[in-house]
Amino acid sequence: MATVKLENIYKSFGETEVLFDINLDINDKEFVVFVGPSGCGKTTLLRIISGLEEVTSGKVIIDDQDVSNAPPVERGISMVFQSYALYPHLSVFENIAFPLRVAKVNEKELEERVFKAADILQLNDRLDFKPGQLSGGQRQRVAIGRSIVRNPKVFLFDEPLSNLDAALRGDMRVELAKLHQNLQTTMIYVTHDQIEAMTMADKIVVLRDGVIEQVGSPMELYHHPKTKFVAGFIGHPKMNFLKASNILVKGAQLTANITDSNSVNLSVEVANTKTGDKIEVGIRPEDVELTSDNKGLPMNIEVVEHIGATVILYGSVEGNSDFCAVLPSDTNVNPGDTVHLALDPSKCHAFNIQGQALYRQVD
Ligand SMILES: Nc1ncnc2c1ncn2[C@@H]1O[C@H](COP(=O)(O)OP(=O)(O)O)[C@@H](O)[C@H]1O
Ligand SMILES: [Mg+2]
Repeated sequence: MATVKLENIYKSFGETEVLFDINLDINDKEFVVFVGPSGCGKTTLLRIISGLEEVTSGKVIIDDQDVSNAPPVERGISMVFQSYALYPHLSVFENIAFPLRVAKVNEKELEERVFKAADILQLNDRLDFKPGQLSGGQRQRVAIGRSIVRNPKVFLFDEPLSNLDAALRGDMRVELAKLHQNLQTTMIYVTHDQIEAMTMADKIVVLRDGVIEQVGSPMELYHHPKTKFVAGFIGHPKMNFLKASNILVKGAQLTANITDSNSVNLSVEVANTKTGDKIEVGIRPEDVELTSDNKGLPMNIEVVEHIGATVILYGSVEGNSDFCAVLPSDTNVNPGDTVHLALDPSKCHAFNIQGQALYRQVD
């Protein structure tokens, strides 16, 4: 079993402050994904957990033991990087066996552990190959194999799929999810790709500028983003944001005018909002529908993408610039057309000018 607890972690490199008051509980066997834009501190946080980097202040606790000052080897952790760093002159077998040779594990046990890892990763028939004879995905599996043989309590992955092409990344996502089910080990996975986060995580940690913005399951973050940043980061294509000025607040009801003739009534937590405030209404591209009676929000279509199951429309709506809609594939629209969209209030989100979500009361 392995739990990981991060308490009040701060990290600076000289004058540069990189992480601010990070607090997080990771449960045993959980698949946790740290996601956020490049430079937000994901790698630094992972290296702090592994012991490759020291905290400036705060604690790293693994299985109820404070390991903040313990060297990496004492933490029972194994890390897989974006660059696989395989030894080109060694066979796949020897690359996987490498950490066991360093640890002077006896030959019989070493073979057993390498064969077991090769089995899990379907590398059995590649054990005599050299890394140069493998595909990118196979090489990454060898790097993962080298982690598996060490039987770590916690696996750390730092963008391990970034060097692979899109199709292979999709396959490897599924393989890693299977690996997690198979090994039943705590895994912490870093990526800037929200699709990897959504598809693999039990729990997503969204980082922004060295601060945890929100923690939750993929669907919690998708349905209940606490900030505009999370709302825009999770989900593809991105959520649309519509500026609404002069909102009207009455009881728990908020009326937001999106255009002169289009308003939407939302039931939100109105404690921090008042009539006259500016807000932004968020609606996901997949949550809009065409109206049949030419009423609703007019959208000017610029680009139409047929991707098979759906059609993606890119364009703009009055008073607000870009807008995107995902509609059924049989929708008959062309660039230059104007369509009218229905905004279902139960699918709308609302954010104040600080980017904080105004919660809907009925959820
Ligand atoms: N060794 C270092 N010395 C100075 N600054 C660093 C060092 N490592 C990372 N940083 C800075 O810390 C910030 C976070 O980096 P990093 O954790 O690599 O982000 P991410 O992995 O999310 O892209 C960046 O601004 C980066 O320049
Ligand atoms: Mg990084």
